[in-house]
This record gives sequence, C-alpha cells and structure tokens, in this order.
Amino acid sequence: MSNTSPGSSDSPQETEAAALARLYDLDLVDDPGDLDLYLALAGRTGGPILELAAGSGRLAVPLAVAGHAVTAVDLDSAMLARARERARATAAKAAAKADLDLELVEADILDLELSAAGTFQLAFIALNSLFLLATRDAQRRAFLTLARHLAPGGVAAVDVWLPEPDDLARFDGRMIFEYERIDPETGHEVTKVASARYDPTTAVVDLTTIFEEGPPGGSVVRWIRRDALRLVGPDELATMAADAGLEIELIAGAYDMGPIRPGSERAILIARRP
Ligand SMILES: C[S@@+](CC[C@H](N)C(=O)[O-])C[C@H]1O[C@@H](n2cnc3c(N)ncnc32)[C@H](O)[C@@H]1O
Repeated sequence: MSNTSPGSSDSPQETEAAALARLYDLDLVDDPGDLDLYLALAGRTGGPILELAAGSGRLAVPLAVAGHAVTAVDLDSAMLARARERARATAAKAAAKADLDLELVEADILDLELSAAGTFQLAFIALNSLFLLATRDAQRRAFLTLARHLAPGGVAAVDVWLPEPDDLARFDGRMIFEYERIDPETGHEVTKVASARYDPTTAVVDLTTIFEEGPPGGSVVRWIRRDALRLVGPDELATMAADAGLEIELIAGAYDMGPIRPGSERAILIARRP
C-alpha cells in the first residue's frame, strides 16, 4: 500500500491513517441518527461532557456547538486531526460560536485519568466503539473509565449494535460489497468491500475492510484496515455497568429510547453514578 503524494512529508503510516480517518467519515455520510439522543442527554445533565473513543468529532463537535463543555478522547491522532478541522470549520461557519469549549485528548481510554475525573455530568461511548476494545477485560476497563470520570449523579451512555443471527451467519469470511460512492472531499470514487469472521467462542468478529479509491477513470489506491470487534449484548452491558458501580436507568432498543425488544437493532444503556 503506498499513497504518499510527491512533496508530502507524512510517513506512509501517517498517510494511511489520514486516509482511513477520512474514509471513516465517508462511511458515516449515512447519518446513524444518534446526535439528538446525546443532545437530549446533555440538555438534561448539562456539562461538562466526556466522549470516550470520540473519533473524528462527529458527536463531540455538535455538542460543543450546542454550548456544552466537551472533552473528546481518542488514541488515533488522524481521527483527532479531523475532529480539530471539523471544529474549526464549524466555528468558522457560525461566527457567534467561534469559541467552542472543546478539548481533544489523544490517549488510550483504558488508562485514562484526566485531571477533571469525577466532574463530568455526562460520559459516553457511542456507536459500537465499545466493540473495538476487543476483549472483555478491556471493555470492563472502559466502563470503569466512564464511571470514575463521572461526577456523583452523572450519567453514562453506551450504544452498541445488536446483530441478528442472519448477520452473524454472513460473517464467515465471504467478501461483502458495502458501497460505491464519491468522496465529497477528494472527488474520488470509493469502493468498499469487507470480509468478517465471527468466532462464537470469544464473540469476536475479525473484520477486514478494503477501500479502493481514485479519480473517475484514473488509477486506484487500495487501503486495508483490520479490526477485531468484540460483540456485547444487553445483559453483558448491564453487568459491566453494574460492576463499574453504575446504577442502570434503562436499556433502550433504538435512538428514540423506546424499550429494547426481541429484534431491536441496538442496545443503548443509560446508567448513573450514585
Ligand atoms: C467507530 S469510531 C467512533 C467514533 C465516534 N464515537 C463516532 O461515533 O463517530 C471508534 C473510535 O474508537 C477509537 N478507539 C479504539 N480503541 C481506543 C482506545 N483504546 N482508546 C481510545 N480510543 C480508541 C478509534 O481510534 C476510533 O476513532
């Protein structure tokens, strides 16, 4: 894999990380629809707000634009660079909100001990990011990080996808076509295919994603990413929250916060630090 442009001082690894961060945002041009949930939670709790595994600031930036003090933590500097740029571009558009109260922290959430620990009114892990902590122990530690950063009475939220048996049956190593779309940032045509293998003994999905991109009719660059995702259901979410000392308020099955039911696509846990 090589894509270093002439004159660029970035290493191949930095170039690849920047491309994968950009393609992460391309994945999410189909809005998952979760922002209103976090705006509503933030409206209820007030700030400061902590997002763990915040990525490119898809949620952290609009929460800051809404006037909340937000700390966004991620270990991927390329994702945080995009969050920084998103904040800059958003603030430039809304001149009145030019001074966003947004702190971006490059750190592993498992060992996180911010100086503001114990003061956050809302702390959350959005959109399956918990899965990327690919062992049960790491996921439990992420819950502990949430809990120790909350103020007493503060609210934690964790959102995960609940695959159907049919979804898991497709995770047998076959190549699955995901999409072909134009990246609005580069004008490149991007094709995404993925292959996943699910191990029921560990609940881990070994996911390989292949992106091919290039100008229409031009030569193509290929980017490959490997992820291990440990799936977690609602019962285990509840156990991890309780083990971290959190009191469960509810587990919803969708972003409208309707109750979880058989067939629900998501489990969204809301818990409170006593
Ligand atoms: C699926 S993205 C989600 C980004 C964002 N929460 C959103 O909803 O758009 C997951 C993010 O988790 C980050 N991540 C994975 N493991 C992490 C860890 N141990 N500490 C901090 N960030 C981590 C990745 O770098 C990635 O940016």
